[in-house]
Amino acid sequence: MDIRGFLFLRRESDKAMANTILVGAQWGDEGKGKIIDVLTETSDIVVRSQGGANAGHTVIVGDEKFVLHLIPSGILRPEKTCVIGNGVVIDPVSLVGEIEGLKQRKIKVGRNLLISETAHVVFPYHRELDGLRDQRKGRNKIGTTKRGIGPTYGDKAARVGLRIIDLMDPDRFAKKLKARIRDNNAVIKAWGGKPLSYQKVLADYLEAARKLKPYVTNTVVYLHESIQAGKSMLFEGAQGTFLDIDHGTYPFVTSSNTVAGGASTGSGVPPHRMDHVLGVMKAYTTRVGEGPMPTQNDEISDLLHGMGREYGATTGRARRCGWFDSVLTRHAAMVNGFDELAVTNLDGLDTCETIRVCTGYKVGRKTYEHLPNDGDALAECRPIYRDFPGWCSSTEDVKEWKKLPVKARNYLKAITELTGGRLKIVSVGPKREQTFML
Ligand code: IMP
Repeated sequence: MDIRGFLFLRRESDKAMANTILVGAQWGDEGKGKIIDVLTETSDIVVRSQGGANAGHTVIVGDEKFVLHLIPSGILRPEKTCVIGNGVVIDPVSLVGEIEGLKQRKIKVGRNLLISETAHVVFPYHRELDGLRDQRKGRNKIGTTKRGIGPTYGDKAARVGLRIIDLMDPDRFAKKLKARIRDNNAVIKAWGGKPLSYQKVLADYLEAARKLKPYVTNTVVYLHESIQAGKSMLFEGAQGTFLDIDHGTYPFVTSSNTVAGGASTGSGVPPHRMDHVLGVMKAYTTRVGEGPMPTQNDEISDLLHGMGREYGATTGRARRCGWFDSVLTRHAAMVNGFDELAVTNLDGLDTCETIRVCTGYKVGRKTYEHLPNDGDALAECRPIYRDFPGWCSSTEDVKEWKKLPVKARNYLKAITELTGGRLKIVSVGPKREQTFML
């Protein structure tokens, strides 16, 4: 069935599954932006509930490519409402830049964008400290995106953060900012960085605040009223399960809850209002930044980079690539409760003669079927592989399941069975129309 047929049926019959959480099943960059864009067609509201401008969701519409960092991808469909929830961390200056960039490209950004009053604000000292802290770690660095994410969530947990609602009150904001700049400049100086000018930050942020004011609201109340009005929601996850602060490969993680549970805390929509969890995974594995990755492999890295694929949308860094790791995705299915799965980037494997899938790990004589919690043990894990014959033909133009090469179907069935979810969506390229449903 093609995507439009499926979406029509979903709208007619799926009211009981109205609110969907979409989560990355690996280390981020699973191609979520594109799947979100396709599913947005049947949702009224698209919500971001965690992370910040460390994310980069790429969506290709016609011949145009959009990379969204903070604004939900739903913004590309003018009749949808997009919400940046309380769990997100917002750099107001960069958000204004993103809004203006979209407007210049004739994308409507007005009453269709709502920003939570209680989202925390990212400041230049967060970015500065993010870079300095990672640098000081030397060989143990995380390789962050340097967008100030960790320090901002750190301030939130330490209860010294400033929120969007503070930014909306210039006098209160000026006082609070002064104290925060003083404290953070002391740390920046001690770490050999360049202290920030209070006046400059104040001026830049008040200017951004003025531009953001029309969008700022109590998004929790809005979302509850929308539920009562029978509207459907799509919660777009940023990053992926193994970057989750609790369930990921700590400390090589981001600072938010990227798993399905984070959609509730980061939006104020209670868990029993969530109807459906969709896991998105690549047909292979990638990771940006440092940290263990058992299936990392030069052969597949060279192949994908040679095709011009797997460069980060936010930082442009070359992603580390490896074979599909079903130990990871099985764990992801457990902590997220995937009802269904979307597999993206199948076409990336089109030229492989043999495709490997990791089904377990071993260290010496010890084998693991589950992800070890000890990061040092994970770093030592060697994959146990099962090999699949490649289909060695292009899948880029395939528009339905039955037209896929048998070997590609077998591969997809195997990786979704090993993960423990039902395959629902397959993506064979970056464009909207290179997606089909089962
Ligand atoms: P941070 O989120 O900038 O603190 O970075 C922490 C780790 O998460 C680093 O390894 C980043 O490369 C990774 N990371 C953060 N956001 C993304 C993303 O959207 N996709 C992939 N990796 C990410």
